[in-house]
Amino acid sequence: MKKAMASIATGLTSTIKLNDGVIMPLFGLGSYLSESGQGGQAERAVTHALSKGYKLIDTAEFYGNEADVGRGIRNGGMKREDVFVVTKLWENGYNRCKKIFNKSLKMLDIGYVDLYLIHSPSSGKCVETYKAMLELKQEGLVRSVGVSNFGVQHLEGLRKAGLPTPSVNQIELHPWQQKTEIVDYCRKNGITVMGYSPLTKGQKLLDKTLLEIAKRHNKSTAQILIRWSVGQGFITIPKSSDPGRIEQNADVFSWSLDQNDVETLNGVPDWSCTWNPCKSPWKG
Ligand SMILES: NC(=O)c1ccc[n+]([C@@H]2O[C@H](COP(=O)([O-])OP(=O)(O)OC[C@H]3O[C@@H](n4cnc5c(N)ncnc54)[C@H](OP(=O)(O)O)[C@@H]3O)[C@@H](O)[C@H]2O)c1
Repeated sequence: MKKAMASIATGLTSTIKLNDGVIMPLFGLGSYLSESGQGGQAERAVTHALSKGYKLIDTAEFYGNEADVGRGIRNGGMKREDVFVVTKLWENGYNRCKKIFNKSLKMLDIGYVDLYLIHSPSSGKCVETYKAMLELKQEGLVRSVGVSNFGVQHLEGLRKAGLPTPSVNQIELHPWQQKTEIVDYCRKNGITVMGYSPLTKGQKLLDKTLLEIAKRHNKSTAQILIRWSVGQGFITIPKSSDPGRIEQNADVFSWSLDQNDVETLNGVPDWSCTWNPCKSPWKG
């Protein structure tokens, strides 16, 4: 098995080679709660982000905005191969995966999906779902297959079932949710780590410690959090549907945090801004 090395993004065009050889951008746009609708928020956010150099867009069946993301990409007028699109399957199951993937692809209307993820292991049926995803990859409809919200027990479950190692595990990652056991396991086993909710869904942006660091660097607290993720070598996908914030969030490559700042952020207590299916039992 090829090992995926942790890589630090030095700009919007930085990439990493996944364990199956696919090249993936290290920085991108999240789209959860970006509103759907012709010419609406999600579509405009995607087009704007691509016009500002973003190369990676994260969506999901669950978000209900795949059609918007697809329109946003087509409006952007970029070559298909210059945009990396991630989508996810919500409820697991072999037949469901095949059926829902076709629906997702139709809505995205971009020919193929770059990375297809099992959204969560908590409902079980991961082995059969993963097999269906691998078939989609063989058919050339998906370039790379991975998982999201998988804990070590789930990753081990796939390994023990004799399945190829996922190329990516997308998990909640920010200073208050460092998931070191999962990150270490992924890195040892060639699974690229992709962080979600890097801005804590906005919930910690007024944190006192964070505000002090932001003031010292003359940056926003959102930028400090994104820079922390970048410095950890995580693929990161801050969500914004505001043009100014989309630009601000990408302005994290011409400066860096001091070692002291990183140590301070690494020392904040454990806290999560959302669900945590990583802790659910392995159900096969
Ligand atoms: N696999 C999973 O289970 C999972 C779970 C959660 C998220 N995700 C993915 O990860 C992406 C990012 O996570 P997230 O959406 O949960 O949260 P997030 O990126 O941590 O935070 C998004 C929130 O921060 C605000 N924001 C963005 N930039 C800002 C800035 N510069 N200053 C102040 N506020 C700012 C956004 O509002 P505005 O839009 O108004 O700027 C939004 O309310 C998602 O969109 C989704 O693609 C995956």
